[in-house]
Amino acid sequence: MSSAILRRLLPASELDRTRREEIIAALNQDLTCTISLAISAKQAHWNVEGPNFQGLHELFDVIAAEAREWSDLLAERLVTLGGTAHATVEDLSASGLQRFPRDERRWDSLTGSLHDHLLSAAESMRRHARDMEDEMATQDIYVEILRTLEKRAWMLRAHLEESL
Ligand SMILES: [Fe+2]
Repeated sequence: MSSAILRRLLPASELDRTRREEIIAALNQDLTCTISLAISAKQAHWNVEGPNFQGLHELFDVIAAEAREWSDLLAERLVTLGGTAHATVEDLSASGLQRFPRDERRWDSLTGSLHDHLLSAAESMRRHARDMEDEMATQDIYVEILRTLEKRAWMLRAHLEESL
């Protein structure tokens, strides 16, 4: 199929090539961000210990599962727009994402670290949501992710406030 025909068949076909590539790059950036978040949440899920063990163990797992769903949404949107998902281990390590504590077991420290990770993911989603006025389906994905990220950050904060 010629690329001209293919372009007409793509959704958001009013986007020019440069803009489409910008959107795909943003989606790829947030794809590595959500994969990293899912890994961090699992790290916290496995290692947490302390008085709030059960609640946090389960909440961390919920966040990991949601982050995996978000990576699926982002990747499938960018492929729908004609891009290629960049989600290899090399892509992840080259993305310069924040580190997550490896040998930490304390519930409050893991909760705080995951909370910070959620907030930095939310900042990226908010910035990209604002930048997607011309591409509503992508904007909708960003808004959906942002809404749940902020809810989970609030839930983690509520656990931390217990310890103050
Ligand atoms: Fe588990």
